[in-house]
Amino acid sequence: MRPIKKAVFPVAGLGTRFLPATKALPKEMLTVVDRPVIQLAVDEAREAGIEHFVFVTGRNKGVIEDHFDKQFELEATLRKRGKSAELDMLEQDLPGAGQASFTRQQEPLGLGHAVWCARELVGSEPFALLLPDMVMHARPGCLKQMIDVYNARGGGNVIAVEEVAWDQVNRYGVVAASDWKGNAFTIDAMVEKPPRQHAPSNLIISGRYILQPEIFAEIAKQEPGTGGEIQITDAMIRLMARQNFWGIKYQGTTYDCGDKIGFLSANVAFALERPDLGADFRAALKRILDSHGGL
Ligand code: UTP
Repeated sequence: MRPIKKAVFPVAGLGTRFLPATKALPKEMLTVVDRPVIQLAVDEAREAGIEHFVFVTGRNKGVIEDHFDKQFELEATLRKRGKSAELDMLEQDLPGAGQASFTRQQEPLGLGHAVWCARELVGSEPFALLLPDMVMHARPGCLKQMIDVYNARGGGNVIAVEEVAWDQVNRYGVVAASDWKGNAFTIDAMVEKPPRQHAPSNLIISGRYILQPEIFAEIAKQEPGTGGEIQITDAMIRLMARQNFWGIKYQGTTYDCGDKIGFLSANVAFALERPDLGADFRAALKRILDSHGGL
């Protein structure tokens, strides 16, 4: 069983649900309070012991690379002004020298294709895959919880799932679960966007994966599916014929920050929890709600 030391962050999507904000700004740089969602995903990966961060970027995404670099003018100014807390924070957020790699997906041909673009950087190791626009609010972080399952089950592939209302299962990838131990289970099947009456459960695949490198060969075999895109679920379904897949109903809440309601909800939830903002924000929120007819 090999440890998980690399993580892939696909950030080449067009973010069409967030136009016009995402015309020039990558959606992964939208902030939850004051942290870009891509930074939250990197924080989660570091907490889980990841040592190498692989970003699959596209055109107009250069600012993500800049975000994970030093900013000499800014740092010099902060130093001159004695702003050591801000300087320390910037320093802490940076991956170490040589720990970040960037590759390009030249065309947004789907998530599966974006992952495949990382194959040379990942090599023959198992790796974590984090969709940065899915913000997981969890302690310990979602990926940490998944790595605990990976270790306990002796390797294989792991997918984080969450429960949704039954009338929503037709929008997601859904898993069939058996052999529960605590909140972890064996995945017996996966179905992409099943109608409610054919869904094996209401547990949806939610944006965090641990995958074995054999997934790359499965992606390579694929013809474009729904919407002309190369999907990751199809490749996982084929890999399941040969390898174990475990699921974890992780402890925490998922916010889909690629969607407006998810993004706004994440901002409210994270702001309410911040010791430096919580009380003031709660009062501000109450005033806003009162002046808009209450809840
Ligand atoms: P989404 O489907 O949520 O991203 O993909 P999108 O296509 O940018 O969103 P909309 O629907 O147009 O608003 C989940 C993650 O996968 C990346 C996205 O950047 C996002 O982080 N992705 C998606 C790629 O890197 N390449 C792709 O071809 C598709």
